[in-house]
Amino acid sequence: MTTTSAASGNGESPGTTAGTASRRKAGLAAATACIGALALAAATPSAAQETEEPSVWDGVYSAQQAERGKKLYEATCARCHGEDLSGANARPLAGESFIRDWGGLKLDGVLTRAKTMPPGASGALGEAGYVDIIAYVLEVNEFPHGEAELTAERAGDVLVYGVDGPDAVPNFAMVQVVGCLSRDDRTWIVTDGSEPIRTRDPDASTGDVLALTQAMALGGNTFELMYVFPDPDPYEGHRVEAKGFLIRRDEDPGALDAINVTAVASLEAACRP
Ligand code: HEC
Repeated sequence: MTTTSAASGNGESPGTTAGTASRRKAGLAAATACIGALALAAATPSAAQETEEPSVWDGVYSAQQAERGKKLYEATCARCHGEDLSGANARPLAGESFIRDWGGLKLDGVLTRAKTMPPGASGALGEAGYVDIIAYVLEVNEFPHGEAELTAERAGDVLVYGVDGPDAVPNFAMVQVVGCLSRDDRTWIVTDGSEPIRTRDPDASTGDVLALTQAMALGGNTFELMYVFPDPDPYEGHRVEAKGFLIRRDEDPGALDAINVTAVASLEAACRP
């Protein structure tokens, strides 16, 4: 976990939450790393000594490993996820939905999920077997192979993203934004909003993630908030974090992008764009 002095100077944080009760915290680390990188970039340019994080485009598995993974996959997974990974009787593990599910997150998220498979026999293949299958999944998704083999440890460093680049957040992905909460008639909106970043945690940020969220820069984006409950009336005019599912409305030039809200939390009782 990256700690950064960027977290200071955030003043009082009411940390109050409108939204869902505590749920799954899986993937928090990935979200943290993501926000961490952003906060560092925004607040401490001198932190450039941080080595650039590896991604699935950097040849993080070997061809031989993918070959081993293919055999395991065909024997254990193909009957549900399809010979071509397109998801015959379960979720696709290739193509657009792979990026939608895992883009912006670290590769160990997929690995952790794969280890619960097949249903009813989780862990049956041993860690190395699952890592080999992930290598095969990367190959089918047309990420290049390299010399070294993927390891479970390394998977924790490797960022997943598609051809549109690391910053492209797919439609319907769970995201986090920071911005100023205001109201347009009966619609809640976030103005001066940051770029949306991926998260796996639907709840209001806490702990280290909250500190990094406090340090996130505002931006030029406006989002309509959908299904905010309870009514965030007390936070009108506050700097807030909003989390939920991103709904892009590119086809309709008049419409704002929206967030189908899972949590809205106040970061500060004022908002200074
Ligand atoms: C008996 C059918 C079945 C078998 C066999 C099976 N899976 Fe699954 N898998 C599922 C179902 C059902 C889901 C959940 C689908 C959903 O989330 O909608 C799932 C989900 C997943 C996910 C999460 C996908 C995502 O994007 O959220 C991964 C990764 C995965 N399986 C990998 C594997 C691997 C690797 C194997 C072989 C070791 C395997 N599965 C074998 C049925 C199966």
